[in-house]
Amino acid sequence: MWLKLITWLTLLQLLAGALSQEFKIFGGKTESVRNYPFLVNLRQGSKFACGGALIAPSCVVTAAHCLGDRGENVNELYVNAQQDCLNGSIPDAYVRQAWYACVAPQYKPSEFDADLAVIKLRQPFYTSDIINTIAVDFNEPPEGASMRIVGWGMTSDVGQDLGQCLQSADVSVVPRDQCNRQMSFISPITNNMFCALGPNKIDSCSGDSGGPILYKGRPVGVVSWGNHCGSGLPGVYTRFSSSAMMWFLQNFIETHCLDKI
Ligand code: ARG
Repeated sequence: MWLKLITWLTLLQLLAGALSQEFKIFGGKTESVRNYPFLVNLRQGSKFACGGALIAPSCVVTAAHCLGDRGENVNELYVNAQQDCLNGSIPDAYVRQAWYACVAPQYKPSEFDADLAVIKLRQPFYTSDIINTIAVDFNEPPEGASMRIVGWGMTSDVGQDLGQCLQSADVSVVPRDQCNRQMSFISPITNNMFCALGPNKIDSCSGDSGGPILYKGRPVGVVSWGNHCGSGLPGVYTRFSSSAMMWFLQNFIETHCLDKI
């Protein structure tokens, strides 16, 4: 009787394993955050909210929707650097509190348009080999280019793992009109967006929002929205090379991020 039960349990476990493999939407692999000195995760209080990238010692770029609708409420917002797994311990030196944030003026939450924000930190990070800034790339990634997505978001549509360890995967640009045809049932693909998808439906997922999409190691956008994940539809990213997004980012960096330390 017990033996039977154990056999059944083992079989069930195997089945669950196979299923979770199949539904491993992000389709990514576990990656060391050491390879991304600029990568941070955002916390509302202590609760994981989003990804982000350190574009200056005291500035983090992320998605506007990560800050709530208008981005005013950053009092409880914290930024954690160099954390492999969301429940991993982290030294104080790797944590900063947000001071204020600026949301792209064109941001339209109902359409996810211009989903971009920059957070100014109360105190800059001390940069080193371990925590460092990354320069944004305002060029359009060429057609077919392979780009890297990184994040602690869900690996399936089922739920956020509070101990999620960083994942990475490679995706490439989906042509704009194709993406628009596929995604306009949710919202049109505007000039401030681009779409990407990897082989075997590799995609970003909930919780990856705000994290960078990298071309040749530099951010060209941030994770914005999609239709669940693993549906085979493209993920949608805020596009740094649109003139509005470029202007907003450059302007913010110049006026708020070039602190002398
Ligand atoms: N809006 C999501 C977030 O807040 C990101 C969704 C990305 N989805 C996708 N299928 N690419 O984390």
